[in-house]
Amino acid sequence: MSNSIAGIGTGNGNGKVVCVTGASGYIASWIVNLLLQRGYTVRATLRDPSNPKKLDHLLKLHGAKERLQIFKADLLEDGSFDSAIDGCDGVFHTASPVTLRVVNDPQVASFHNSIRSSLVDNPLFAATVFAVLCIMSLRGVLSNFHCPVLLKQAQLPIIHFSFVSLLQAELIDPAVKGTLNVLQSCAKSPSVKRVVLTSSISAVLFTDRPLTPDVVVDETWFSDADNCTKLERWYSLSKTLAEDAAWKFANKNGIDMVSILPSMVAGPLLQPEVNESVEPILSIINGAPFPNRVFGWVNVKDVAIAHIQAYEIPTASGRYLIVERVVHYSEHARILHDLYPTLQIKDKCEDDKPFVPTYQVSKEKAESLGIEFTPLEVTLKETVESFREKNIVNF
Ligand SMILES: NC(=O)c1ccc[n+]([C@@H]2O[C@H](COP(=O)([O-])OP(=O)(O)OC[C@H]3O[C@@H](n4cnc5c(N)ncnc54)[C@H](OP(=O)(O)O)[C@@H]3O)[C@@H](O)[C@H]2O)c1
Repeated sequence: MSNSIAGIGTGNGNGKVVCVTGASGYIASWIVNLLLQRGYTVRATLRDPSNPKKLDHLLKLHGAKERLQIFKADLLEDGSFDSAIDGCDGVFHTASPVTLRVVNDPQVASFHNSIRSSLVDNPLFAATVFAVLCIMSLRGVLSNFHCPVLLKQAQLPIIHFSFVSLLQAELIDPAVKGTLNVLQSCAKSPSVKRVVLTSSISAVLFTDRPLTPDVVVDETWFSDADNCTKLERWYSLSKTLAEDAAWKFANKNGIDMVSILPSMVAGPLLQPEVNESVEPILSIINGAPFPNRVFGWVNVKDVAIAHIQAYEIPTASGRYLIVERVVHYSEHARILHDLYPTLQIKDKCEDDKPFVPTYQVSKEKAESLGIEFTPLEVTLKETVESFREKNIVNF
């Protein structure tokens, strides 16, 4: 499969230096690829450049030998991005933890249970955890969470402290403090003309408004942090808090920022490992019943193009939803069955409840960036072909 993107052209970036944070990730790898294709010099930040699974696919990109520079940076280390960003014309901030599971997911529940049994079986461990968490709490680490939520569960406070502090440390802090850390480096560097922030439709959908087939969601919507908490949508909470903090910081410090809000992203993988948003597609082709859930979907190459256009078009401003189509997972099962009729794809939902309704997402602003969306059918085929190419599946 070719990694070049037709129709995007080459050469606009000649002589310009830009930074991409979290460059080893699924979306960021495509942004780096496209920037190199357009002639930019790319400073790619990685948490662990010594890990070949994170680095090698970037080094293989066309133009990498001449114009790709690798920097080590961690979202949680103050000033970590200074050297990568200093002297750049533009910054693409994509790095953020991506975990789309909700708390009542079996995998998260089993994690919760394993904390519970460790604490119940081992009082010394429990006491140590409790002491550490009290110190963290006193230092304000838990400040984004509401104490009543913890107190309601008074019978097992330690478990909830553990869970909440883990959420804070693993998801909320890297997203929120990490974004501010990157923006602080941008504010220090007068060369930076624009920052493109990778936010998410998760920072849009969770208002008080219903999501039904007649509703058209647009960029004026902004998720409410309390709603995300109520719904236990922790990833959405992290993206909502991060984008909100980013706009406040950018406005206060005169940073020209544009945010990109993709829905679930699929399409070919450049990195060797399966990322969160393509996982459900792998699960369906492996014969699992489809989830009773509805998501918007978009091709990873269209998301990368949107980032570059948002950077290059001087009049681009504000937020851009990037969504091709909103569908129930039953639609994935149908399309995948049509594409691969010999596979044992189940025409069965994982529960017997009525299907969650769909909604619509406005394409008006995305189209003003010149985005021509790849149809979901093509995106799903490209995703599965990429699994085959990387021997993630063998059929
Ligand atoms: N995929 C989607 O469907 C989707 C949809 C909407 C928005 N987004 C957003 O798009 C961005 C990229 O997502 P993705 O799907 O490409 O996910 P991904 O493949 O998991 O990439 C996430 C990147 O963030 C980096 N990262 C995480 N924690 C970090 C830390 N503490 N310090 C430095 N880097 C850290 C990861 O580094 P390591 O590799 O070292 O872990 C990785 O490079 C995220 O901001 C995500 O919220 C994704």
